[in-house]
Amino acid sequence: MDVNSPAAPAKPRISVIGTGYLGTTHAVCMAELGYDVIGLDVDAAKLDLLRAGTVPFFEPGLPELLTKVQGGGRLRFTDSYAEIAQFADVHFVCVGTPQRKGELAADLQYVEAAFSSLAPHLDRKVLVVGKSTVPAGTAVRMEQLLASQAPCKDVELAWNPEFLREGFAVQDTLHPDRLVLGVRTEWAEQQLRAVFAPMIESGTPVVLTDFATAELVKVAANSFLATKISFINAMAEVCEATGADVTKLAEAIGHDARIGRRFLNAGLGFGGGCLPKDIRAFIARAQELGVDQAVSFLHEVDAINLRRRARVVDLGQELLDGSWTDRRVAVLGAAFKPDSDDIRDSPALDVAAAIGRRGANVLVYDPQALDNARQLYPDLQYAASAEDAVRDADLVMLLTEWREFRDMSPERIGTLVRRRNIVDGRNVLDPAQWRAAGWVYRALGRQ
Ligand SMILES: NC(=O)c1ccc[n+]([C@@H]2O[C@H](COP(=O)([O-])OP(=O)(O)OC[C@H]3O[C@@H](n4cnc5c(N)ncnc54)[C@H](O)[C@@H]3O)[C@@H](O)[C@H]2O)c1
Repeated sequence: MDVNSPAAPAKPRISVIGTGYLGTTHAVCMAELGYDVIGLDVDAAKLDLLRAGTVPFFEPGLPELLTKVQGGGRLRFTDSYAEIAQFADVHFVCVGTPQRKGELAADLQYVEAAFSSLAPHLDRKVLVVGKSTVPAGTAVRMEQLLASQAPCKDVELAWNPEFLREGFAVQDTLHPDRLVLGVRTEWAEQQLRAVFAPMIESGTPVVLTDFATAELVKVAANSFLATKISFINAMAEVCEATGADVTKLAEAIGHDARIGRRFLNAGLGFGGGCLPKDIRAFIARAQELGVDQAVSFLHEVDAINLRRRARVVDLGQELLDGSWTDRRVAVLGAAFKPDSDDIRDSPALDVAAAIGRRGANVLVYDPQALDNARQLYPDLQYAASAEDAVRDADLVMLLTEWREFRDMSPERIGTLVRRRNIVDGRNVLDPAQWRAAGWVYRALGRQ
């Protein structure tokens, strides 16, 4: 280690740049672990909410923790890069990396803006840590940016990909499966080990890597998960053609410990702010690197996933005797998955919009995601409750598996609808129970 470098402080002061789903959770959890934390964003409305103690999105357990750490004075928010540069020893960059419009590649403008805004204020040796999911090669470019724009020439970079799941974000941040530390020097490693000391002391495995591996770990993990989901959805297509039942198939192959049962739920497929754009960005980066063949299967993973949405529309149409025109359809679910209000690339809303375009009279209900859905899909109609959504419906489509929908009573719902038709887009209802209550039940990958 460079003897002139400052040793890692026992409790580094932390900044978190970008207070979205990832950044807010990270900032709050770091404060919960006892660190002094400052969160920065460029979105003034989001900062106002956070300063007032309101989490700007739905994440179980996070509001309570925000209130607690703000009460303890360990977390505050700002829009000033000068302020965070003066304050923090370690800066986490958590800004978004969405898909570029009209392309497969990731849009890195927010990452570049965050580094460019921070660098000119860095006049002492600190560690900047990239947490955003980025294409391989980004860290090296950001390192060069810091070297050319930071007044202090000893500023270091690390990459520390994040694996939290929305809906379990607090638990995943405080008790991660593993910590991946992409570092160049022992000094950077020691800073990160100091930041993550509580997790490391409680036994969280640490994987030390170079930058490129740290960047790739995240997209490789998401590619694997997406492939597993599309694998079982491909099997669902075959099950439909053979009369087999994909839920039994998943149960049976899932008992093999080498395969495992998780992520083998056939249904409407994946969406959200990560899996779809991460596999597409991986395809784009692999093309630039000349290794597109290595990930060409991801095109198929994406195609299988999108085909599920079309298949759900077909199933609904069959139940409506071939025509959507003026039929009342209740869509249960708008979030891309339960326990989240995230509607980025939501399969449920994609299907709702598709059947709306075909002339159906669609009423969407979701326990948490209605505000977001209204903004992105202003042309859809929204209901205040599941019961309001299904009233007088010709067809009910369960498209996001919230517990509230899984627990619905077919008898009770049956008294509200006009026709007892249901598409279970997530394979979470008991077909025998629904059929016994007089429903025509259809699902993906089973009869
Ligand atoms: N959401 C997840 O579950 C999750 C999990 C793991 C990794 N990730 C990755 O984390 C990153 C962030 O994802 P997210 O879901 O939190 O996105 P998000 O859109 O919820 O949040 C991004 C935030 O960055 C802010 N921002 C944009 N430009 C900025 C700038 N120049 N300076 C400061 N703030 C700026 C935005 O205002 C926004 O609040 C992405 O790369 C994503 O792939 C997300």
